[in-house]
Amino acid sequence: MSSADRQSGYATDGGAASRLTTWHQSLFSAVGRWRWLEVLNDRVSGVALPLYDRHRDNVAVELMHGGRWAGHALHPALSDLPIGMWSGTVVLDLLGKDAGSGEGRMDPAATLSAAGLLAAAATVATGVADWTVSDGEDRRVGLFHGVLNVAGVALQGASLAARLTGHRGSARVLGASSLTVTAAAGYVGGHLVQGRAAMVNRVAGFSGPNRWVRAVSDTDLPDDTPTGVEVDGRKVLLYRRDGKLYSLDDTCTHAAGLLSRGDVTECIVTCPLHGSRFDLRNGQIVRGPAHHPQPVLTTRVRNGWIEVRGSQPKSRRAKPKEERHGMESDS
Ligand code: FES
Repeated sequence: MSSADRQSGYATDGGAASRLTTWHQSLFSAVGRWRWLEVLNDRVSGVALPLYDRHRDNVAVELMHGGRWAGHALHPALSDLPIGMWSGTVVLDLLGKDAGSGEGRMDPAATLSAAGLLAAAATVATGVADWTVSDGEDRRVGLFHGVLNVAGVALQGASLAARLTGHRGSARVLGASSLTVTAAAGYVGGHLVQGRAAMVNRVAGFSGPNRWVRAVSDTDLPDDTPTGVEVDGRKVLLYRRDGKLYSLDDTCTHAAGLLSRGDVTECIVTCPLHGSRFDLRNGQIVRGPAHHPQPVLTTRVRNGWIEVRGSQPKSRRAKPKEERHGMESDS
């Protein structure tokens, strides 16, 4: 027992505990090194990315991400449908209630299996859309998630075919295999969202600075040029047009691209990573794939400095009108 363990009174087996808690890290770092996945990633990206770029302004494509209307990615929610229906199929199989009672009708297990396949088509479409706006390791892990899902769908399709041709034993085995592979794919998808923050709001919880802080000298901010500065550890985008100052969080809510490296046209900034567009005046999304607006910061010019602040302390008095609109009037 180590001296720390003796002091805490707990006996631990450090090696076993560490193996228990890090097996998933080892798994996903191995996935990132698989050569075949790298090659497949290059091939699929070579086809999917130009296609996505050609249609990225299509509203249907933005809808597949969930976009500003849903406020969340659609893919994780849709994925519950095939998993739920195929789980129902396996339960019916286990209870021996998979066979139908009427001649010529699809039995209950086959109905759930077929409905799950239909839902899987929508789930795959939204998943591919989200995958095209991922990068680096997220894209490789996302592709692994997709490969597992395709295998799950193929097994389910084979199971349905076996059910419809009366091979009930094979259908049960294939159905259970499909659910197992799909659940594994779901685990990988969960890692992408919860472990790697894919398609989540990257600036959730950002609120500072909660006092006025000098960002840049007034003379050092050129007009009509998006400029990134760091203020109290927060990356901030500053932009001045016709003498008016605008300020947003510089970190894109979608996947943390820096907006200050993007182009601005008519007060609309385009993220250089995946093309989300935000209105500099209010942070609202003009086009996805982002689901969440950019936080707006307040600015003012004092003593030759542009000052910025994020969250405002709660005041007991009513706030002045101009502060409520995100910008002080003395700039
Ligand atoms: S990081 Fe993806 S659109 Fe900005």
